Amino acid sequence: MRRIVLTADNVDDAVAEAVQILRRGGLVALPTETVYGLAADAANGRAVAKIFAAKGRPRFNPLICHVADAVMARRYGVLDKRAERLADRFWPGPLSIVVTLAADAPVHPLVTAGLPTIALRVPRGPARGLIAAFGGALAAPSANPSGRLSPTRADHVTEALGDAIDLVLDAGPCEIGLESTILSLTGDSPRLLRPGGVPVQALEAALGERIDRAAAGDPVSAPGMLASHYAPRLPLRLNAKRVAPGEALLAFGGNAVPGSGGAAAIRNLSQSGDLIEAAANLFAHLADLDRSGASAIAVTPIPDHGLGEAINDRLLRAAAPRP
Ligand code: TXA
Ligand code: MG
Repeated sequence: MRRIVLTADNVDDAVAEAVQILRRGGLVALPTETVYGLAADAANGRAVAKIFAAKGRPRFNPLICHVADAVMARRYGVLDKRAERLADRFWPGPLSIVVTLAADAPVHPLVTAGLPTIALRVPRGPARGLIAAFGGALAAPSANPSGRLSPTRADHVTEALGDAIDLVLDAGPCEIGLESTILSLTGDSPRLLRPGGVPVQALEAALGERIDRAAAGDPVSAPGMLASHYAPRLPLRLNAKRVAPGEALLAFGGNAVPGSGGAAAIRNLSQSGDLIEAAANLFAHLADLDRSGASAIAVTPIPDHGLGEAINDRLLRAAAPRP
């Protein structure tokens, strides 16, 4: 891991170095006005999978996409009137808005956890210049191990995650120190998913309407918790030791699976048994098999360590009974 303490003199060089790392699929810890984020190219599934691995996140919760401005935001999400107004008032700043994913948005499904929506925000500070220089969205959760406190100083990041990160940009303590407010605009009325850096009253004043608080246990408040939030159309059969005729096969690793010859379609999450590669392929492969005309999707066992825990969590949810 490299660490660069940003100064007025070195910021351009540091940004250029960070851009190179991100283009190669690396991870960069970057300061925002809220907390330090652990950033990767949002279009690169393997890079995004490394975020989950580094954090030890047991679930593929969707990640916020950080963009340079509203123009870039419109490549990723459909900004309605309300979204445009909030973007105009509060960006750059600690507000994330959840909107409908744009058609052909250059974002890997691991970032949105397969949802048809996307969380977007424009951060203040050097992160914004980095995103502009990179020329695309950066997926970035807070740069802490899962379940631990969010980092507001570069030291917090290097102590906990240093080994997993290629570059830490150190811009001193974060101005706000609390994550962004997350507002969903995907329904008829706006809904607060997470209180944060922008007070909800300020959002209500800007929108001229009351904002619903997501109730505890409300599936919208925590998409990663909702059993069917990423469910393929076809039933899933987990821990399959063989494929039945007419089933599709989602395999992992290089071992031959009995019955493969009669499978309607086959995808392998990772021939070499690499869980990072498997995570990056998961949503896309499931979507492919879902379209294959098979009767069901048989999934071979996947190790439960490292990212395997998140992969298995997502598969269990996808296989859960539908409401
Ligand atoms: O201040 C922040 O927002 C920090 C800095 C780094 O920008 N980022 C951050 O990201 O807090 P993270 O990953 O810890 O929080 C992302 C949360 C998820 O837990 C999820 O609930 C919500 O954002 N989220 C992301 N995409 C969503 C979507 N499509 N629909 C609903 N919620 C979404
Ligand atoms: Mg977090």
